[in-house]
Amino acid sequence: MTQTWAVQAAGLFLMIHLIGGSAYRRVNVEAGHEAVLNCSSISKLSLLMVTWKMKSSTSCFLAYRRDLNESRMLNCSERVMWKYSPDHDPALRIYPVDLNDEGNYTCEVVSSEGNFYFVFSLNVIVPPTLSLTSDKNGVAVCQATAGKPAAKISWIPASNHSVEKYVHHLNGTVTSFSYISWVNSTHPNVTCLVTHPAVNQTLPLDLS
Ligand SMILES: *[C@@H]1O[C@H](CO)[C@@H](O)[C@H](O)[C@H]1NC(C)=O
Ligand SMILES: *[C@@H]1O[C@H](CO)[C@@H](O)[C@H](O)[C@H]1NC(C)=O
Ligand SMILES: *[C@@H]1O[C@H](CO)[C@@H](O)[C@H](O)[C@H]1NC(C)=O
Ligand SMILES: *[C@@H]1O[C@H](CO)[C@@H](O)[C@H](O)[C@H]1NC(C)=O
Ligand SMILES: *[C@@H]1O[C@H](CO)[C@@H](O)[C@H](O)[C@H]1NC(C)=O
Ligand SMILES: *[C@@H]1O[C@H](CO)[C@@H](O)[C@H](O)[C@H]1NC(C)=O
Ligand SMILES: *[C@@H]1O[C@H](CO)[C@@H](O)[C@H](O)[C@H]1NC(C)=O
Ligand SMILES: *[C@@H]1O[C@H](CO)[C@@H](O)[C@H](O)[C@H]1NC(C)=O
Ligand SMILES: *[C@@H]1O[C@H](CO)[C@@H](O)[C@H](O)[C@H]1NC(C)=O
Repeated sequence: MTQTWAVQAAGLFLMIHLIGGSAYRRVNVEAGHEAVLNCSSISKLSLLMVTWKMKSSTSCFLAYRRDLNESRMLNCSERVMWKYSPDHDPALRIYPVDLNDEGNYTCEVVSSEGNFYFVFSLNVIVPPTLSLTSDKNGVAVCQATAGKPAAKISWIPASNHSVEKYVHHLNGTVTSFSYISWVNSTHPNVTCLVTHPAVNQTLPLDLS
C-alpha cells in the first residue's frame, strides 16, 4: 500500500518534471564582485518551494517554503543570501565572490505550474597583476601574475622570438611570462599587450 503510493508519487513527480523544465547556464563572475543566479522563470504567485544546492569547496543549502513564508540555510557562508525577498524572486546572491565559490549551483522550484530545475556553473575570473621590466642584457619580461584564466601576452611590434612560460598555482590561477630579447631592434620602444577576460592593457617600455 505504502509502496504503491510511493510509486505513484514518483510517477507524478516525473510527469510534473516533464511538464516543467530544466536549464544549464554558465556564469562568469570576477572575484570580489557580486554573483546573482536568477532562478525565476515562473510567476511569483505559483511558487510553492525553492531549494538552492551548492557544490563548491563546501556544500550549502538554502530553501524557502511559501506556505510558511520561511527560509532555511544550512552550511552556507555569510556571503550567500537571497538577492531579493524569496517570495518575490528566489534569485541567489553571493557577495563578494571568491575562488572557493566556484562550482555547480542547482535551483529546484516546486510550483503549481510544475517543477523546474536549473543548474548554474559558476566560474570565477581573477584579473592578473601586470608588470613589464627589462634587465641589463636587453631582455624584456612581461608578467601577468595570478590571473584566471591565464592571461595571453603579445608584443608590439610583433615578435616571434618571445619565450612564454606559465606557472600554475594551487588556487587555480596562472602566472604568465613572456620574454623577448630586444638588443638588436631598430625599435627602442617595446610594448607588451596583455589580453584577459577581466583586463586588456598595453604596457610600454623604453629600451633605448
Ligand atoms: C530572471 O529570468 C527571468 C526569465 O528567465 C526573467 O523574466 C527575469 O526578468 C530575470 N530576472 C532578473 C533579475 O534578471
Ligand atoms: C558542510 O560543509 C562541509 C565542508 O565545508 C562538508 O564537509 C559537509 O558535508 C557539509 N555539511 C552538509 C550537511 O552538507
Ligand atoms: C514573508 O515574510 C517577510 C519577512 O520575513 C515579509 O516581508 C513578507 O511580506 C512575507 N511574505 C508573505 C507573502 O507573507
Ligand atoms: C559541475 O558540473 C559539470 C557538468 O555536470 C561537471 O563536469 C563538473 O565537474 C561539476 N563541477 C563541480 C565542482 O562539481
Ligand atoms: C617571423 O615569422 C614570420 C612568419 O610567421 C616570418 O615571415 C618572419 O621572417 C619571421 N621573422 C623573424 C625575424 O624570424
Ligand atoms: C593564488 O595563489 C597565488 C600564488 O600562491 C597568489 O599569488 C594569489 O594571490 C592567489 N590568488 C587568489 C585570488 O587567492
Ligand atoms: C642585428 O641584426 C642584423 C640583421 O638581422 C645583423 O646583421 C647584425 O649582426 C645584428 N647585430 C647584433 C649586435 O646582433
Ligand atoms: C617610447 O614610448 C613612450 C610612450 O609611448 C614615449 O614617451 C617615448 O618618447 C618613446 N621613446 C622613443 C625613443 O620612441
Ligand atoms: C579583452 O579583449 C578580448 C578579446 O579582444 C575580449 O574577449 C575581452 O572581453 C576583453 N576584456 C575586457 C575586460 O575588455
